[in-house]
Amino acid sequence: MHKNEGFSSKLGFVLAAAGSAVGLGNIWRFPYLTAKYGGGIFLLTYLILVLTFGYALLIAENAIGRMTRKGPIGAFRELCAGKKSFLGSVRVGGWINAVVPLLILPYYCVIGGWVTKYVFAMMCNPVARFHKDAIESYAGLKMNASAAYFQNFITDPWQAVGFFLLFVVVIVAVAAFGVEKGVERFNKILMPILILLIIAICIYCMFLPNSGAGFRYYLMPDPSKFSYMTVVAAMGQLFFSLSIAMGIMITYGAYMRNEDNLVSSVNQVELFDTGVAFLAGLMIIPSVVAFGGEKAAEQAGVGLVFVTMPQVFASFPGGQFVGAAFFILVLFAAATSAISLLETNVHTISQELKISRAKAIVLNVCEVAVIGVVTILGYSLLSFVQPLNFISRYRGMDILGTLDFISNSVLMPIGAIMTTVLVVGVIGIERICREIRGQNKWYREFVFQFCMCVVVIPCLLIVLLNATGLIG
Ligand code: TRP
Repeated sequence: MHKNEGFSSKLGFVLAAAGSAVGLGNIWRFPYLTAKYGGGIFLLTYLILVLTFGYALLIAENAIGRMTRKGPIGAFRELCAGKKSFLGSVRVGGWINAVVPLLILPYYCVIGGWVTKYVFAMMCNPVARFHKDAIESYAGLKMNASAAYFQNFITDPWQAVGFFLLFVVVIVAVAAFGVEKGVERFNKILMPILILLIIAICIYCMFLPNSGAGFRYYLMPDPSKFSYMTVVAAMGQLFFSLSIAMGIMITYGAYMRNEDNLVSSVNQVELFDTGVAFLAGLMIIPSVVAFGGEKAAEQAGVGLVFVTMPQVFASFPGGQFVGAAFFILVLFAAATSAISLLETNVHTISQELKISRAKAIVLNVCEVAVIGVVTILGYSLLSFVQPLNFISRYRGMDILGTLDFISNSVLMPIGAIMTTVLVVGVIGIERICREIRGQNKWYREFVFQFCMCVVVIPCLLIVLLNATGLIG
């Protein structure tokens, strides 16, 4: 989005915000975290957090953007201007918000590369290859064919780097030629198709033998599986999926017209994003449990979608075509999110370094390419690089996991704390509520105030201390 263009309608805002919110976070990240952190109990924790924390932060960020008409750095700077001591230093929050997308985009593109590979995998392989009972070897070990295929792919530097670069080239071309609007239009047709396809696959999964156990695992919370990590992971996922604590929503708020109803727009984004994540879980988790039991679900990792979905497609005639369509649609969702991440970075870089948009694109691409390639090599040549080995519970974490952890579980909570201090300490809760409410009814004003003034900061501090291994 370029500087001088605002959203011409409320629908424009909702579609743009929802388009950037729905992406790999919903389809790749949410299901594997849910599977790994106990199914139903994670889902419940996540839903509670979305309705309280997520809501409050989403709405606060939009309001900050609409009040200042600036991106995160400018908005924090303007609001903190003239404040002394602690409140003046809150302006650092703007920088934290701006750094997060710089860290996320490289590994987002790595996963985008994986999705690209699977479009080809579905088109070029007979899906029988991915049948749940098929066996293949990986590093000399015999294992489930679908898992082996995935491992062989991510540990092959040439292939993994190749598909990553392909993905990067496409999104950069879109941004460089300024055709995002065309992509957005495409997306308005493709996203509903993706959702319908996911619903159809969910219905199919209900008829898989043993899927009952999987639906129970997903939908019935089991309190014995609850731990600190459930909350830490759910909180990180919430930031990632709603694109909060990274300046995006502040930027979107800045493009919103004053007369538009902020409250209902934010409700729609929240509902849509969470709905898509819920459906993705409903499609994937029962399938993993049906194919491999609960144990397979608990051992889930970043490869879950890529290992399980091909097995689903191998289980019915014509699955290959459905599989190809599925990955193409996911690729679109990923590309639109990656493009809006790129736009945010380019905006920040060109403003702060005072350079042209073209130069900012080149700089960002170099950064993405370097960090992305290092991340990919973390699965092969650089697998000995495990930066968090000094914290016992993160021993063995690879580079992708580390980037993901630092951005979602460390920087985003800090960014969100800064936003909250800005709202409560600098702007003042009364003033921001007036801005948000406008002429409209606001049923959840109490939730907002309660979260901002009481809940957010202590909870985020606990998450932060726990995530960094200091407590828990
Ligand atoms: N929310 C996006 C998703 O679920 C990912 C994302 C994080 C994002 N930050 C963003 C997308 C900024 C666009 C802009 O996949």
